[in-house]
Amino acid sequence: MKIVTIFVMMMHITGSLCAQVLQDIKLNAPDMERGLTIMKAFGKRASATSFSSKDLSLQDLSDLLWASAGVNRPENGKRTAPTAVNAQDIDVYVLMKSGAYLYDAKTHSLKGVIAGDNRKMVSERQTNFANAPVMLVMVSDISRFRGDDTEQKLIWAAMDAGIVSQNIGIFCAGTGMVTRPRASMDTEGLKKLLVLSGTQYPLLNNLVGYPNE
Ligand SMILES: Cc1cc2nc3c(=O)[nH]c(=O)nc-3n(C[C@H](O)[C@H](O)[C@H](O)COP(=O)(O)O)c2cc1C
Repeated sequence: MKIVTIFVMMMHITGSLCAQVLQDIKLNAPDMERGLTIMKAFGKRASATSFSSKDLSLQDLSDLLWASAGVNRPENGKRTAPTAVNAQDIDVYVLMKSGAYLYDAKTHSLKGVIAGDNRKMVSERQTNFANAPVMLVMVSDISRFRGDDTEQKLIWAAMDAGIVSQNIGIFCAGTGMVTRPRASMDTEGLKKLLVLSGTQYPLLNNLVGYPNE
């Protein structure tokens, strides 16, 4: 009887551990031919007030992340978004129904962080946005800046996060997707969920989806 109980408990523990495993996602190469002209994209840029719940296609997700902060000059590893002193301090975390991922620009892939739908931590009190299928959270790791002037580092971090956010905004405007940049989110909850260190600051998020037609 005891052996059966221990077996059942072990199966339960193993099952829970397996449920936590989140597969990485290999992203597609960016489609460099798509989108409106840059001036038409500026003409359409706006913060979305609602989202379709439909999941993004793999190509749309891939292009979105590359546009946000992907490597556009493989010869020196530089990115679509500039950063102060090229610290490349902004990490883009991606929250979707399946789980939370970290965008790895070097390999252009999503690294699974934790399984499960935690998008509410991003939409937080703005429950009308809770159905956005993709939520990008810009996290600065200020330890990537040299020196010990924390105030200066946080100013640079905020600027760097804003630039990534604007890349997302222009990409969405040019490709028929919609987005809303936001400072509101459950920052402390996200720090715990994403297992961030003391020098990593979630600064800004962009909700992304297709228009709610
Ligand atoms: C730094 C920043 C923080 C923002 N935070 C929020 C937010 O927490 N919630 C929200 O609904 N919109 C937020 N917004 C969106 C602004 O409200 C929106 O950009 C503004 O109303 C102008 O509208 P437009 O982007 O369509 O021009 C934020 C925008 C920026 C740039």
